[in-house]
Amino acid sequence: MKLEDKNVLVTGGAGFIGSTLVRELLKENARVVVYDNFFSGDMSNLEAIRKEIDIISGCILDPQLKNILANKDIEYVFNLAAEPYIPHCYDRPKRFFEVNANGALNVMLASKETGVKRVLQYSSSEVYGTAKYVPMDEKHPTLPCSTYAVSKLAADRLCFTLHHEQDIPVIILRQFNTYGPRETHPYIIPELITQLSEKNRLKLGNIKASRDLTYVEDAAKGAIKLMKCKKAIGEVINLGYGVDYKVEELAHIISELMGWDSIDIDIEKERLRPFDVERLNSDQSKAKKFIDWKPRIDLKEGLRRTIEWFKENDCKWIWETKIAPEDKIWKYSN
Ligand SMILES: NC(=O)c1ccc[n+]([C@@H]2O[C@H](COP(=O)([O-])OP(=O)(O)OC[C@H]3O[C@@H](n4cnc5c(N)ncnc54)[C@H](O)[C@@H]3O)[C@@H](O)[C@H]2O)c1
Repeated sequence: MKLEDKNVLVTGGAGFIGSTLVRELLKENARVVVYDNFFSGDMSNLEAIRKEIDIISGCILDPQLKNILANKDIEYVFNLAAEPYIPHCYDRPKRFFEVNANGALNVMLASKETGVKRVLQYSSSEVYGTAKYVPMDEKHPTLPCSTYAVSKLAADRLCFTLHHEQDIPVIILRQFNTYGPRETHPYIIPELITQLSEKNRLKLGNIKASRDLTYVEDAAKGAIKLMKCKKAIGEVINLGYGVDYKVEELAHIISELMGWDSIDIDIEKERLRPFDVERLNSDQSKAKKFIDWKPRIDLKEGLRRTIEWFKENDCKWIWETKIAPEDKIWKYSN
């Protein structure tokens, strides 16, 4: 199956992963519609490709979404729109649930009603909670450690049951952590790059926690391969690099890439999460079997590219300048 000349909708397409996925879809000559409420995503992420895509401002909870799918004759939907940044879920758990779980439900039902051929739901490795064993395959117990992770698991399982109950052709992608240009939240990689751009003394939280990191371009390519794979419909599939690094190790690797000979680390209690995931490490066997996917960009190369992007963009990330359009948030909730 090819996506060439196919009408593809990307919810959350103005965000970090979404804006890379859109670029990869354009390389496939797909006709791309971005659907986003610009809460954490930003138009500047799409500026360079603005003329090649259609952009619609809207919320995934909006009942009108089905009219957009119908009017634009959408055949394939990537559902990335979400509230994804864990520290924010401590302040607004209800909204996380609303957008991440109910939002996904609205996208799935709208897709069914309008005869969308395939939907890919962006789930997360966070649904597993901390590793009980490594590498973590899709059969690993799901013991989420945050409201974010619970909301993503609700959507993940909802998609699975909707596939069986309603015959919705959905693929569930459990993405492990990604990093790269256009990050929209202060995750560990952008945080380390920002701090190390100023000095070689770092303020960090849990430096023993480890994450399995995939460069965003590799992740987006994997998602497209999954969308093209008919056999993946109704399946839950991990995408990750298969190697995990502790925050402490990442700090040393990035500091070296940024030209420091040594670093000092101060642990700040307020940076510790109340209930943290200690370790994530992906088993990629199922992805290999279904789509023969393997990430190509190793950690050092991916970090080099990310640091270069950061420097080219005045050493600023989106969230440092962005004011979220608060008025759009609760419009479709009750
Ligand atoms: N970044 C990661 O490492 C990672 C890992 C696993 C899974 N994911 C998942 O990937 C997806 C994208 O994450 P990201 O890191 O690019 O985050 P992001 O915040 O950059 O992207 C989310 C996008 O959704 C939009 N959005 C938020 N609420 C919306 C709503 N109600 N209606 C329409 N649009 C809305 C935002 O404006 C933003 O553009 C999310 O579903 C996230 O859970 C991310």
